[in-house]
Order: sequence, then structure tokens, then C-alpha cells
Amino acid sequence: MNLAISPRPRVLSGMRPTGALHLGHYHGAIKNWVSLQTTHDCFFFVADWHALTTHYQHREGLEQNVYDMVVDWLAAGIDPEQATLFIQSRMPEHAELFTLLAMSTPSSWLERIPSYRAQIEADKELATFGFLGYPLLQAADILIYKAAFVPVGEDQTAHVEVTREVARRFNRIYSPERTILPEPQELLTETSRLPGLDGRKMSKSYGNAIAMRDAPEVVEEKIRTMPTDPQRVRRTDAGDPVRCPVWPLHRVYTDEATRYELELGCRSAGIGCLDCKQPLIEAIQREQQPWRERADEYLANPKQVHWIVEVGAERARAVARKTLREVRAAMGLNY
Ligand code: TRP
Ligand code: SF4
Repeated sequence: MNLAISPRPRVLSGMRPTGALHLGHYHGAIKNWVSLQTTHDCFFFVADWHALTTHYQHREGLEQNVYDMVVDWLAAGIDPEQATLFIQSRMPEHAELFTLLAMSTPSSWLERIPSYRAQIEADKELATFGFLGYPLLQAADILIYKAAFVPVGEDQTAHVEVTREVARRFNRIYSPERTILPEPQELLTETSRLPGLDGRKMSKSYGNAIAMRDAPEVVEEKIRTMPTDPQRVRRTDAGDPVRCPVWPLHRVYTDEATRYELELGCRSAGIGCLDCKQPLIEAIQREQQPWRERADEYLANPKQVHWIVEVGAERARAVARKTLREVRAAMGLNY
């Protein structure tokens, strides 16, 4: 295939730097990114400005969180030769497009985003201009690269929807003859819904997460102490995987034949819960092994990580500048 004639469709996604990533991030997003990078022209960035829209009082730890996340991406197999990796705040171009798009975007579009009202009512500190602008900043992130696809979780579909509306309105007002900002599609990540250690959604703030880079003995301890079927009090009680928070993890990590054996053992009290957990512990440790090896190399060489996101920023900038030239001209700013 001639790539010059048939370029790979562009994918863009961002993630807020919340610190070390966990298995929920891997199975919910990063694994998908790793596979997309071989078929699409992927741009992945650290949304550190978006982190500040909600955590503007917590600048401490931001830098650490940014680089921890980039290391986790690289550890998971995101390949900087194939995908373009960068940090949002190194791209003032996004802020310029955000400003220009703000001119024609009705504020009501942002105020009516589901969850916005509830969030500012729950937390008065979120009643800022920056937080109101969150979805428009996200629209600028996407539109500046003319991304065709945006892999996101369900919680982000409203933002991609607003991005399309913003693009449509921009094109209609400023460039009715020729589409300057194409409307992106979301790629809904089939959320494997990897639950946390307590059966709720895996989340660092719930304290129920297994980090991608948790040490093998930490993983072992976390799984061994996980609650199981509450009706299986004694080893001799029969259990039911349907009631057990360990089971959804087996669905992700264990093949069907083994699961069948485990289920029989559980229902007949033929196996104990620790027997059931052991293959899970091993599967997670096996999955983490290459991550740890790759992460160790990058951690020993932090300059290389900085270099990767600098090179990515320059690649991204070439694309961003081109879009901005078109946008400026369309808005009468080409003087
Ligand atoms: N809002 C996204 C999240 O919280 C992060 C994000 C920022 C993003 N800009 C984006 C995702 C652009 C996709 C495209 O997960
Ligand atoms: Fe859960 Fe397995 Fe124990 Fe059954 S045997 S209760 S599935 S941990």
C-alpha cells in the first residue's frame, strides 16, 4: 500500500495524569491504543491542562504524575516510533484554537453537558471558567489534528458529541464551501469493566486498584486478601462465582476451560478460594512482567522519556500549525 496516497486514518486520545496507571486503565484503554497504533496514525497525549481544570489547587505532584503516566504507556507497549506521544501543555496551539472556537460556541452548549451541573453543585470549587471550558478545550485537542477517531470511554461521549457540533458550526460560519474541521467519531472502547478488589469500578481513589507496576508480592497480597462469595464462609461451604468479586477478574485473565474447572470446584467446595485465586495471581504477574522490564529501562533513563515527548510534540506541532493557519485565515486573521 502506498502510504502517501492512502494515509492511515488519524486517531487521537488524551488521558488526564492521575498518577500510576492501574489494570483498569490498561484493559479499558491502553490495550486498545497499543493495537490501534499498528493500523492508525495515532496521537496520544497527556491532558495536563485538563487535570488542572479540576485540580488547580494541587499543582504539587503534577509533573511526577505526567511522567509516571508516560512511562506506563511505554511500558504497556505504546511504541513512540509508531505513535506520536506528547504533553498538552507543551502545545500552546491547542490554547489558540480553544480561544478561536470559543468565539462561536454558545456557552449553553457547555452548561448543558450532562454531569456538569451535578459536578459543580457537588464541589463549589469547580465553578470556574476553566472547568466550564473543559469540553471546548477537549474539542480543540481533537479538531486541531483533524482526528477521524477518538477512542474514549462512555463517560466521554458527550464531549465528542459537542466537538462535532463545534466543528459543524465553525465550518458553517467560516468556511461553508470547504470543511476545515472534520467531525470526529468516537471509538467506544468496549470496556472490559475490570472491577477493583472490592467489586466496584477499579479506581485509585477507592483504594481498590492494582497498579500496572505493582510488585509481584503486592499483587499476590492484594488478590489473596480480596473478599469472595460472602456466603462461602468456611472452606467446606459451596460457593457461587456469580456472587464473587474475584470472578470478573477470572473472566479477563483465565481461559474458558480453566474457568469451567474452577467453577465446578467452587460450587462443590472441591477447591478453596486460595486455590481459585492462585491462577489469577499468576496471570496478572505474567502480564506485568514485560511492563516492569520496559518501565525499568525508562526509569533508569528519564532523559529518554523527555526526549520521546519532545519529539512527539514537534511532530504534533507540524500538524497543529497547519490547521491553525487554515482556521486563522477562515476567521479573517491572515494579516
Ligand atoms: N477528558 C478526557 C478524560 O478525562 C481526556 C481528554 C482530554 C481527551 N482531551 C481529550 C480524550 C481529547 C480524548 C480526546 O479522559
Ligand atoms: Fe470466588 Fe473462587 Fe472462592 Fe468461588 S472459589 S468464592 S469463585 S474465589
